Amino acid sequence: MNEIVSKLSPGATKLIRMDHTHVLSNFHRYEMDAPSDKKRAIVNVICLGLEVHAQIEEEIFYPALEEVSTDDEVLAKSKPEHDEMRRLIGELRSMEPADEAYDSKVLELMRDVMHHVADEETVLLPAAELLLKDRLSELGAQMTKRRMELAGPHAAEIALNQARAMPGATMLVAAGGLLAGGYLLKQAFSHRHH
Ligand SMILES: [Fe+2]
Ligand SMILES: [Fe+2]
Repeated sequence: MNEIVSKLSPGATKLIRMDHTHVLSNFHRYEMDAPSDKKRAIVNVICLGLEVHAQIEEEIFYPALEEVSTDDEVLAKSKPEHDEMRRLIGELRSMEPADEAYDSKVLELMRDVMHHVADEETVLLPAAELLLKDRLSELGAQMTKRRMELAGPHAAEIALNQARAMPGATMLVAAGGLLAGGYLLKQAFSHRHH
């Protein structure tokens, strides 16, 4: 299994960029005049995706970069920014889409995430590509494995929310999301053993 994960995983920085693109595209699907259940479904997909993404960065990517980085300013504020994001996620989960402040809370989270993503993509990822060049694929494999562990128990919930959030043809786009890595690996794994 390890060898397959290594072969199929994108490198660490590629994986992080793909996650960012995916979560931002989910924010773009959020419409203020959509029905409550659709809003809730999109927000659920966003929140779970962000939680898993933040956790694999904190467990694997940030520590690896910390070891080699000399300029820690952006890195140092990354964890507190994740914590702020988690606080907003907690608030959103305790709210109803019909609440007056729901839309603005979603937009607040989006603003924070865009700012954080911009810092990562313009500072941390280029630094990692320079300083961790030889470790990117190994770290990507570790992150893919950890993501499967974290997202796996939520697979049914993710599929349901994605179906609710993006019915019809856009489900194909959803396949580029959280579950795609796991799906790809399962396919590869079962081919090998059949
Ligand atoms: Fe990130
Ligand atoms: Fe991050």
